[in-house]
Amino acid sequence: MNKRTQSVAAHPRTIDPTTLNDTPHTRLAELRQETPLVQLGPNQYLVLRAEHVVPLFIDPRTRQIEGPEFVALHQIPDGTLAQFLSDLFLFSNGTAHRAKRSLFARSFAHRVMRDARGQIRTVADEIVASLPRGKSFDFVEGMAARVPADMIAAILGLPRCDSRYFAALVYSVARAFSPIYPHEHHQEIENAAGELYDYVEQQLSLRMTAPEDDLLTALVTDWQAERGIRFESLVFQVVGLIIGGSDTTRASFAMLVALLLQRPGDWAALRSDPTLIAGAVNEGMRYDPSVGSVPRVTKAPIKFDGIDLPPGTVLRLSTMSAMRDPALYLDPDHFNIRRTDHPRLHMVFGLGPHRCIGDMLARIEMEESLSAVLDAAPGIELETLPRMLGFGGLRQITPMHVRIP
Ligand code: HEM
Repeated sequence: MNKRTQSVAAHPRTIDPTTLNDTPHTRLAELRQETPLVQLGPNQYLVLRAEHVVPLFIDPRTRQIEGPEFVALHQIPDGTLAQFLSDLFLFSNGTAHRAKRSLFARSFAHRVMRDARGQIRTVADEIVASLPRGKSFDFVEGMAARVPADMIAAILGLPRCDSRYFAALVYSVARAFSPIYPHEHHQEIENAAGELYDYVEQQLSLRMTAPEDDLLTALVTDWQAERGIRFESLVFQVVGLIIGGSDTTRASFAMLVALLLQRPGDWAALRSDPTLIAGAVNEGMRYDPSVGSVPRVTKAPIKFDGIDLPPGTVLRLSTMSAMRDPALYLDPDHFNIRRTDHPRLHMVFGLGPHRCIGDMLARIEMEESLSAVLDAAPGIELETLPRMLGFGGLRQITPMHVRIP
C-alpha cells in the first residue's frame, strides 16, 4: 500500500460531491489515501480518516450544526420541512438538546430495549410468516421496512395498522438528511413532512382527551404539566424519532441480508451457529452503512494538516470512509462476520452527546429479524442486488428482489 500523504496544501482539493455518488467506497478510499479532507463547497469539508473523524465528534472546538444553519446551508424553502429541521433536537446543542433528548431517553434505555427483545422477535416472526412463498418480492418493502416501522409504532403507541402509511412518508422526508438536498423533489418532501406532522399532531391531540397506556400519552401528559416547549415542537420531536427509527434500520437490515446472501458460506455458518448473528449485524453496518456522515461545525479555529479552518466551518465527518480505513480495521474491504476489531462503540451510531438514541433498538431489531429469516426462510434466494445510494447523511437503498421457495 502506498504511504499516505501526511499533510496537505493550504488549499485542499475541491471536489464535486455528486462524483462520489456512483462508487462511493472506491472514491472515498482513493481520496482518503491522498488527503485527510476534501472541500465539498464553500466553507464545507468532508473529513475522511478515522484518526480525525473519531476525535472530531467530541472535540470541544466543534459542535452539532444548528437546525436553522442546516436549512440555510441547503437552501431549503420556508415551510413545514424547514420548521421541522430547525426545531429537531438532532440539530441542536447544549441545554436545548438535552431538554428535548431527555423526553425520550428513559424509553430508549438499553435495559428497556433488552427487555423488548421478545416482543421484537414476535413481530419479526409474524412478518416472515406473512411473506409470499414461491414468488418474487421486494425484501426492502416486504420485510426490512416493516420491523422498524411496527416497532416504533409499538413503542410510541401508534396503531400498528398505520405503520405502512407513516413509513412511506418517512422515506420521503428522510431524503432531506442528505449532504446534497434534492431540490428537484422538494415539493414531494415538503408535502410528506406536512402530512407526517398532521398525523403525529392528531395522535398526540387524541391522547389529551383519551389517554392510553403508551409513550405518546406520557409525552403529552408531561408536556401539559410543564409546557417547557411549544406543542408544535413536541410534535416535531416525535416526527424526528419516527424518521430516525424507521429509515436507517430498514436500509441497514436489507443491505445486511443482501451481503450475506451473496456469501453462502456465511449464510450457512449463521444457520448453524446463531452466536455469529451479532457480529454479522456489526459488520453489515460497518461495510455498507445506512448513515454515511454526520455534520459538525467548528466553534473555534482549527488547524487541520496545514489548513486553517475558521469558526463556522461545516465539517462532514465521513463515518463511511473512517469505517473502511485500514488504520482502524484490519483488511477493511473484506466483509468478515467474525471480525474482532470493532471498537466498543460502533461508529455508525455516532459518538458523544448526539450518539444515536436508538442504537440498541436498531441492533436488536436487526439481530432478531435476521434470526427469524434464518429460521423460517433459510432457502431465501437473492434475485436483484440492492444498492445503497449516496455517500453521506441518510443513505437510500434501492429495491432488492428475493424469492422464498
Ligand atoms: C442502523 C440504524 C441506525 C443508524 C445507523 C443510526 C445512526 C445515527 C447517528 C450516526 C446518529 C448521530 C447523528 C449525529 O451525531 O449528528 C443518530 C442519532 C439519532 N438517532 Fe439513530 N441510527 C439508527 C437507528 C435509530 C433508531 C432505531 C432510532 C429510534 C427509534 C434512532 C433515533 C435517533 C435519534 C432520535 C437521534 C438524535 C440523537 C441526538 O441528537 O441526541 N436511530 N443515529
